[in-house]
Amino acid sequence: MNVNKTAVISLCGKGGVGKTSIAALMVNNLLRHSNGTVLAIDADPAVGLATSLGFSVYKTVDSIRTEIIEQLKHETIVTAAVQEQLDYELLQAVQERKNLAFLAIGRPEKEGCYCSINSLLKDLITRLSQNFDFVIIDGEAGIEQVNRRVMEAVTHLILVSDGSQKGINVADTISKVAQQSVKYNHKGLILNRVNRDEITTLEAKTNLDLLTWIPEDKKIRQFDLEGKNILELQDTRSLNLIKNCLETLVYPS
Ligand SMILES: Nc1ncnc2c1ncn2[C@@H]1O[C@H](COP(=O)(O)OP(=O)(O)OP(=O)(O)O)[C@@H](O)[C@H]1O
Ligand SMILES: [Mg+2]
Repeated sequence: MNVNKTAVISLCGKGGVGKTSIAALMVNNLLRHSNGTVLAIDADPAVGLATSLGFSVYKTVDSIRTEIIEQLKHETIVTAAVQEQLDYELLQAVQERKNLAFLAIGRPEKEGCYCSINSLLKDLITRLSQNFDFVIIDGEAGIEQVNRRVMEAVTHLILVSDGSQKGINVADTISKVAQQSVKYNHKGLILNRVNRDEITTLEAKTNLDLLTWIPEDKKIRQFDLEGKNILELQDTRSLNLIKNCLETLVYPS
């Protein structure tokens, strides 16, 4: 399989709705079925995706940023040497396992500070992403970040909600905020931990296109409970539903 352009999928939504689980299920599917290379980006300071994919976090984009700022002290000009150093440090922060690479973003940046470093890092992450067929970004809960800390543009913005009004409201709000602040080509909703007979009611509450819905899946919970690597998960309905979803979203026909 060959995708001409990198598919950058970002998952956003209310806390606890299943963003990390769905991100990990997507990575699992892409590694099993696409032959492509995948960069998984954990944009949640709690680094849940790292645990789900069996990575330990040593160095984050934020720790690199802090180190460089410390080194620059009050210097405001970012020299070519500093740019080179950032590039090198970023590559050091990327962990690789066969077709999968992993990068953790770390803690949120301080708003308004060190803009040049932040935008440089975003540019570097964007450039790094272009080396992969697929990029999956697991966002932190809420509406603030929507990729502000990671990169300017994504190809697929995916809102995740559970079967609650609150979950749908947050998905809708993020969608509206994103319309003004994020560049994306496609947008849609994944409903998680819902029953078939709830879908029509939930769909009627939002204008977002429903990409797929995932039922309650004991295996997901069990893997999480035991801290097991989701890449080992197989033969479960939710994995298959995500496979179908990815087929329509990102695989060329
Ligand atoms: N379809 C599912 N069936 C059963 N359990 C699920 C399902 N999806 C997620 N879970 C469980 O729900 C909990 C929250 O999921 P997850 O961590 O993926 O949510 P999140 O949106 O990433 O949360 P946070 O906002 O805290 O990062 C986890 O314990 C996970 O195992
Ligand atoms: Mg999470």
